[in-house]
Formats: sequence, structure tokens, C-alpha cells
Amino acid sequence: MRDAAPQTIYLKDYKPFGWIIDDVHLTFRLHPTATRVISRIRFRPDYEVHHRPFFLHGEDLKHVSIKVDGHDVDPTYVDGGIEVDVPEAPFNWEAEVEINPQDNTALEGLYMSNGMYCTQCEAEGFRKITWYPDRPDVMAQFTVRIESTAEHTPVMLSNGNGLYYSQDSTQPEGPNVSIYQDPWPKPAYLFALVAGDLIAHQDTFTTMSGNEVDLAIWVRPGDEDKCAFGMEALKKSMKWDEDVYGREYDLDEFNIVAVDDFNMGAMENKGLNVFNSSCVLASPETSTDANFERIEAIIAHEYFHNWTGNRITCRDWFQLCLKEGLTVYRDQQFTADMRSAPVARISNVLALRGRQFPEDQGPLSHPVRPESFQEINNFYTSTVYEKGAEVIGMLHTLVGQEEYAKALDLYFDRHDGDAATIEDWLKVFEDSTGRDLTQFKRWYSQPGTPRVEVREDYEGDTFTLHLRQSTAPTPDQDTKAPQVIPVNVGLLNPNGDEVMETQTLELTEEEQTFAFPGHATRPVPSILRGFSAPVILNHDIDNDRRAFLLAHDTDPFNRWEAGRMLARDSLLNAIIDGNDPNPAYLDGLKSVLRDNSLDPAYRALMLGQPTQSELAGLLHEAGHTPDPEAIHTASEALRDAKAAAFADLLPDLYTANQTPGPFSPEADPAGKRALANAALALISRTDGGRQAADQYASANNMSQQLAALSCLLDAGAGDTQLAAFEKQWAHDRLVMDKWFSLQIMQAQPQDVVATTQKLTQHPDFDMKNPNRFRAVMGVLSLHHAGFHDKSGAAYALLADWLIRLDPLNPQTTARMCSAFQTWKRYDSDRQALIRTQLDRILSQKNLSKDTTEMVTRIRGT
Ligand code: TRP
Ligand code: ZN
Repeated sequence: MRDAAPQTIYLKDYKPFGWIIDDVHLTFRLHPTATRVISRIRFRPDYEVHHRPFFLHGEDLKHVSIKVDGHDVDPTYVDGGIEVDVPEAPFNWEAEVEINPQDNTALEGLYMSNGMYCTQCEAEGFRKITWYPDRPDVMAQFTVRIESTAEHTPVMLSNGNGLYYSQDSTQPEGPNVSIYQDPWPKPAYLFALVAGDLIAHQDTFTTMSGNEVDLAIWVRPGDEDKCAFGMEALKKSMKWDEDVYGREYDLDEFNIVAVDDFNMGAMENKGLNVFNSSCVLASPETSTDANFERIEAIIAHEYFHNWTGNRITCRDWFQLCLKEGLTVYRDQQFTADMRSAPVARISNVLALRGRQFPEDQGPLSHPVRPESFQEINNFYTSTVYEKGAEVIGMLHTLVGQEEYAKALDLYFDRHDGDAATIEDWLKVFEDSTGRDLTQFKRWYSQPGTPRVEVREDYEGDTFTLHLRQSTAPTPDQDTKAPQVIPVNVGLLNPNGDEVMETQTLELTEEEQTFAFPGHATRPVPSILRGFSAPVILNHDIDNDRRAFLLAHDTDPFNRWEAGRMLARDSLLNAIIDGNDPNPAYLDGLKSVLRDNSLDPAYRALMLGQPTQSELAGLLHEAGHTPDPEAIHTASEALRDAKAAAFADLLPDLYTANQTPGPFSPEADPAGKRALANAALALISRTDGGRQAADQYASANNMSQQLAALSCLLDAGAGDTQLAAFEKQWAHDRLVMDKWFSLQIMQAQPQDVVATTQKLTQHPDFDMKNPNRFRAVMGVLSLHHAGFHDKSGAAYALLADWLIRLDPLNPQTTARMCSAFQTWKRYDSDRQALIRTQLDRILSQKNLSKDTTEMVTRIRGT
């Protein structure tokens, strides 16, 4: 069947399936190119909603047989599936299909990765496995029998609990069978199967009610020494969800599998989480501190889905943020508890501003709960995930911890086993807190980043804040209604003492005034503490005020933010007016760096500066056309200025933050390494890379090895080490991804295209592996000055490769098209160059619906 023209699906058109499934029995006869899948399903009519005809999804399935109540039937092929004549009464379905996992380069459904069988079914991959109502509101109990006949697959896993395993003992290298049963009804997107030659790193966890759970992380032989950290993270997550949310694990086993070829980070399949190996495998020698942190967060995220996603799932894919926003929020809370809360918050805001703000302010802007889509894979976005998490965080701030905990208990009580909606979620909060959330709900339907403008007044002893909110029009929505914006505010006196602790102001009108009487001297406000809402704050304060807050704010987020504002101001003035770096910024930062009472990780964040892409966004917002070359020059100049201004401080900062002895991935030593490496990056700008070469030679962990190599390349002095690194790590795909990325990241803008091109010719450049493709093409698009080189060569190079990847892997291709989403910021020459590439992509024959939708939306009309 050929796909018809892409169809748009609307939230308002939701209709239930019309049939109920009691249980599903699946048999898999594994074969690399001809796997047989036999499904036995008991259907009964849902008499409350009767729909004809009977439709099941199915894609790329080779029909073998279909029987209804034992009789052969011929299906009618329709777009995306089949229609079948069935009785208006309960009936037994039995179907057999053949599928080809070996040729499945899209990595959806059943596919092979390095000789291992694995599945990815979210969102709509199960329909590539067998005929089924592949929609999240159809939940059923699954029993799965896996038979391997053609080859040696000693480990064969599915969801739930293992019931049976057999292998002919006379032929230990031969065929085997395993059976799994999942007692919890689930939608098909949570189905998983894994089979191959795998090794387990095992442990156990005893739940709060005393159930012992067998835990295992399954990896390919050779990776078994990279599982210990992930296992600890899993146990911490299980404990945390019991302690903080009262949620216990509900099966006898919990399995994680590491897979090399994976479109996303990881997947929460019931009892059988499948992970991109980059998001679970960790060792000091091969993983950076950032990797360790990310792995801990993703393991927690997928584990937390067991309650927020699996036990309570989504009615339809428009409700994606119901599980993703909440689960991201939960993993952020977990990271804040396990590590430093301020550092975690700042990192989340950096990610939000870096990814979600550009999305929300460009052609791809969409509500946290979208109202239409063509390809749901295109809506696993920063808006749904990260802004979705911010919305939960605002709700938490508005109702307070106690009410939040009560509401969550009610949510789990009331909706356990349901496929729920955002309306259900908000109703729980309304019923439990008595609050009317009608206006708050606009966060789910209104796209765009709200701006909050602040004016202050002081009269008599009353200090006043005037807040005014507005949101710019977005592609499908011109006018915006006021939203509920929790603005956390504290007040300091001119000595820097806090005279009013943090209060939550609720901005609900377009314009509102908040008065704070009883202040004998004019206080200094600290506004939007902890970044209490995902908004842009416009508060016209001078650099003295910023420097004051940088020195004194008791809110660690706003203290960091004050430094950030100074950095922005310094950079924008350099770009627009050619000004020298702002001394207030350099002086303020210097005091912060000197303050040894401050967490090194926090100081490392302070030392950072806005990315070039963020600066381009800010310039655009302020009505300037960003010039990527000028932005690059100013950013580099500010780094040089820091290297000079802190010259006396950096060597001490570097030595004081060394972490001798055995490597520990804990937050404290990781923070020290972050600060020492930030210092090294500045030192390397003046010492020609000498110190970095020493660190490279003596490094016993990847954090230090990679940071040193990065500094060396930046100093133009790392050729020897780059070659040595390649030789040392040629056998390790994940480390080689870093080797590929770093060369592009650290290339001079004018060399970026040539470097990228050269790397695509490297024998280890494998476009079918999403990690490797992203390590090269993703990083090309992240090198702001290189990607936006005025020749347009980088645009063309990226487009070439997206065109090449699309027939193999539409999902990853479509995601990477977002590299072009900010194109309207730039000058007309660059816009014309990009438009040419967008049109060239769109003109490809048989372009996937994923990529068609993305490029069409980005291009606009
Ligand atoms: N549900 C997954 C998560 O956020 C996301 C995911 C993993 C996914 N693989 C995918 C989404 C493939 C779409 C397609 O934890
Ligand atoms: Zn998730």
C-alpha cells in the first residue's frame, strides 16, 4: 500500500475504538529477514460506542493469514491498515504476518541492532509488528511467546514477568523459547521484545511493601563493566519514587536493555525499558560527568514513567504532555534531590531557553497540548517535554507542596489503569484543592513565550511592582489571553540583606500592581526567583543593579541570572556597538569565582556565557539582524577578556579543584572538575595549550581527557592527541561519537564544512546509526558561526545528508530539520540560501510524511 497524501489528525475528532480487548497472545518466530508474528486476540464490542467498520492498523506487514472465530477472512486494505467483517459479538482474532527486522532502518517496530532484535513501539510502531488497534486508549493484557529457530539468541525478553524459558541442553547454541506475561493492561506502544546474545548486570530491590524485584541491565558482551552506575541510579529512582510520591514498583522483574541504534534517548516499555546505549552505559574511562548526570536522569525518567505513563497512560497522543511533562518534572525533582538543586534548576532553564524558547518563537511553535498533527513523532518536542514540565512546576508553586502531594495521591487513586486526559489531570487538582483552573488551562492551549514587563515605584514607605504580560502572535494563533503566571519575588535592602522572603505573586490580568508597604528605605526586588514561570522577563535595570544582585541575591537562580544579564549586556553591546567587555561583569564574576563558599558546580555555571545562537535570538528580538560572524567574534573576545582579567585567579582555581584519587561521578567532584575544566579552557587561550596537554597526558577519566582535548583543539594544538584519541578508542562507538563531534565543535567557523565533510568520509561514519549521524550532522547545525557561514555551504551539506537519511530513517531526519527553524532571524541572503535548501528537500520524490510535515511548517508560506 502506498501512503495517501499526509492527513491531519485533530484532537477534536477523538472517538473511542468501539471494541474492548481482554487479552492478547503473541508468538514471535524470530528470523532476521522473515520473522513470523502470530496474534491471538479476544475482541468484544464496546456497546456504548459502536463503530463500524472494524479497522486495525498495520504497516509494512506481509499478510499470511487472518481468521475470525476460526474462519479465514480476507481483509480490505485501507490507508494505514485493514478493515475486516466481524460479528457484532465477542470473537476470536487470529492473524499471522511476516516482517523483516533486518531491513528496518527506521528503527520503529521490530528491528535489528548489532545482531540484537529489539523493538520501539512508541508512538505508532506496534502497527509494524502486527494488525492491531495501535492507539493508547486500547489497553490489554499481553502474553508473549518468543521462539528462536534460525540462530543463537540465548536471551529473549518481553514485558512483565518471565514465565518460562527453555533451551535444548544437548544444543546449547541452538533454538530456544521464552514466555513472558504482563499482568498489567497496557497500550501497544508499551510493548517490547528484545532477543540476542546479551549479558546481565543483576541486582535486587526490595520495595516498601517487601516485594523483592530482580533488576537487570542487559548489554552486549564487552559492555558489562559499564552497568554499575546505571544500576545504582535505578535503585535510587525506585527508592525516591516510594519516598517522595509513595509509588511502588509492581512486577517481579525490571529489565533495562542497552541498544546501539536508537532514535531517541530511551523508552519506558512496561518492565522492559530499552535505552540508547549512550543513555545507560557508563564508566569513568569512557563517560564524562555530563554523561553520568544525564544517564542518572534518564534512568529515573523512564522508571518514573511506570506510574506516570504506564499505570496512568494517555487517552490519545494529543495528551502526550500528561505523561511527558509530569515525568520530566519528576526527573527534575529527583536530580535536584540527588545533586545540587540550584545547579539543576539553572541547567533546566538553560535547556529550556536553548531549545524550547526558539521553538516557541518560531514557525514550529505549538501548544503544550497540540490540537493537530500529521506525524506524532514530530511532537516529541521541547515544548511538550520541557515546557510541559514547567507547567507542572507552576501548578506546584501555586498550590504549595502539601496540596500538590494531596492532588497527586488523588490522581493515582482516581486514574490508576486509565488512559487519561489533561482535563482529567486538572480536574483532580480542582477537586482536591478547590481552585478554579480554567484560566491556568491556557498554558496547555496557548503557544508562545509570554513576556512580563516590570516597572517599579517607591512612594512613602510603599514599594510597588507593576507587572504587565503579553504574548506575541504564533503561527496558528494571533491573539493571546492573559495567563496565570506565578512570579516569585523577594526584596533586599541596599545592604544586600533580605527584607522580604520569597512570595508568589499571581499575575492573572494583563496588567497588575502589587504593593509592599513598610519599607523605610527603597528595597531592591529580586523577581522571578527560581525561574518560577517559563516567561521572558523584561525589567529595565542598570548594570549596577545587576552587579548588586550578582553579589547579594539570596536566591541562587537569580544570582546566577544577574550574572547572565551582565554577560548578555556585555556581548550585545560588543556586537551592536563594538564596545569592550563590561567591567562590571568581569569584576562581579571575579568576586563570585573567588568565593570558595560557593559550590564549584555553581561557579562553573557562572563562568559560562550565552551561546551564539541565544545571542542571535536576542538580537532578533531587539530588532537587529544577527550577524553570525560578529556574534562569534564578540563571544571569543569575551572569553579572551576573561582569560586576561582572571589571569591571576585561574591557576589557583585550577589546582584547588583537582580531584585526585579514584574517580567518583558524584555531584561534588563532578562540580570541581567542571570548574577546573572551565578554568583550563581560559588558561588555554593564553598558554598555547600547555596545561591542557599535561592534563591530557595524565587524565584517567573521560571528563578530563575530553576537556583537555577540547582545549587543545581550541588552541589549535591538538593534532597529536586527536590521533592518539582515535587510536585509543577506535573500538568504542560511544567514545568515537565524542571524537567526531569535538572536531566539528572546535573547528574555526570557516573550517566547519570541510571538517564535517572529511568526517563523513571516515570509515566509521555510519549514517544508519542515529548517534553517529547526530554526532556529525547535529553538531554541524549547532556550530552557529560555521552553520551560518555566508556561503551557504553548511546549509547545503546538511540538506544533502537529510535527503540521504530520509528514506532510511524518517524520524531522525525530521527531528534534525529543526536546525532550520530559526531561519527567519537572519539576513535576506541567508534566508534565500536556506529557502533553497528547504525547497530542495521538499522536492524529493517519496519524501517521508515526517520530514514533509517538518519542512513545510518551517518553511511556512
Ligand atoms: N517515551 C520516551 C520518553 O520520553 C520517548 C521515546 C523514546 C520516543 N523512543 C521514542 C518517542 C520513539 C517517539 C519515538 O521517555
Ligand atoms: Zn518520557
